[in-house]
Parts: sequence; structure tokens; C-alpha cells
Amino acid sequence: MHSADDNGITIRLADENATLAYARRLSNILTPGLVIYLQGDLGAGKTTLVRGLLQALGYTGRVKSPTYTLLEPYSVGNWEIRHFDLYRMNTPLEWESAGFNDEVDGDNVFLIEWPAQAQGQLPPPDLEINFDILDDGRAVTLQAFSPKGIGCIKRF
Ligand SMILES: Nc1ncnc2c1ncn2[C@@H]1O[C@H](COP(=O)(O)OP(=O)(O)O)[C@@H](O)[C@H]1O
Ligand SMILES: [Mg+2]
Repeated sequence: MHSADDNGITIRLADENATLAYARRLSNILTPGLVIYLQGDLGAGKTTLVRGLLQALGYTGRVKSPTYTLLEPYSVGNWEIRHFDLYRMNTPLEWESAGFNDEVDGDNVFLIEWPAQAQGQLPPPDLEINFDILDDGRAVTLQAFSPKGIGCIKRF
């Protein structure tokens, strides 16, 4: 979908707690307006990562997958997080008609599951995280696609 500026960083995460710890690490390199694509099969751990990230930022409520609403917004501390799950989007045009472009304000952080469902409509990614399901845990690859993303990876 996009070409990476380098091969990225791949880490094996043995269990759910490792995914949550990875999310905490990621929370330390967030910058306002960051766009992160989350890729991987159903059950790979994308929503788990979002939950860990929100909890690391101080969110104490329930984190549910926006399966039908497509978007779940969160305000936590000074952060504005926009969690998308586009799995049930019927056409990429829904992105625009739902008004999601209005969420792009340079401040809101985007975490997007199933970005290919809105191909051509989304803001381009700064970072992409790919989850591969292993027999034992997950392999997670972090890649940068913009100068901003490269800056984040350097601090990861
Ligand atoms: N590193 C890991 N190793 C094994 N299981 C994991 C790991 N991280 C998360 N899981 C489990 O895999 C499932 C991931 O579900 P979820 O985060 O909803 O996936 P997705 O959003 O990608 O569909 C959860 O049951 C979670 O406990
Ligand atoms: Mg999910």
C-alpha cells in the first residue's frame, strides 16, 4: 500500500500483556496529529493495542471496538484520540460522507484498523503497525512513512 522508509522494527510479543506493554512504549512517542494504520487479521491484537495505549495515557473507562459506529473518540489528558475500525465500511466513500475528514485537525491522533477499507480517502500514515499471528504470540512490525513517523521511530 505504501513503501517504507526503512524495514521497520519487528518485535515478538508473547502474550496479551506483552502487547499492552508495547502499547505503553508507543504512548511515549506519540505526537499530536499522528496517523497510525493498524494492520492484521481479525483477532491479531489491533484493538488490544489501542486499549493499552489509551490506558497508558490515563484513560480508565472501557475501550470497546467501534465495530458499528466506525469511530470512537477519546479525550484523555491533553490527547485527542480517534479510534477507527473500518472493517464494516461498505465503500471507501463512506469515510467522507461520515464526516471523518473533519476530524483531521493536526491535533487529533488517528488509530485506524482496516485502513484498506477506505483506501484513497484516508490521511496518509505516519506510522504503520502490522500484526502477524504466530503459533505462540504475535510478531509486530512498526514502520514509518513520513518524517514525523521517522522521528517517532527514533524515539521508540
Ligand atoms: N501478543 C499476543 N499474543 C497472544 N494473544 C494476544 C496477544 N495480544 C493480544 N492477544 C489476544 O488476541 C486477541 C486480540 O483481539 P483484538 O485486539 O480484538 O484483535 P483485533 O482488533 O486485531 O481484531 C485478544 O483475545 C487478545 O487477548
Ligand atoms: Mg479490532
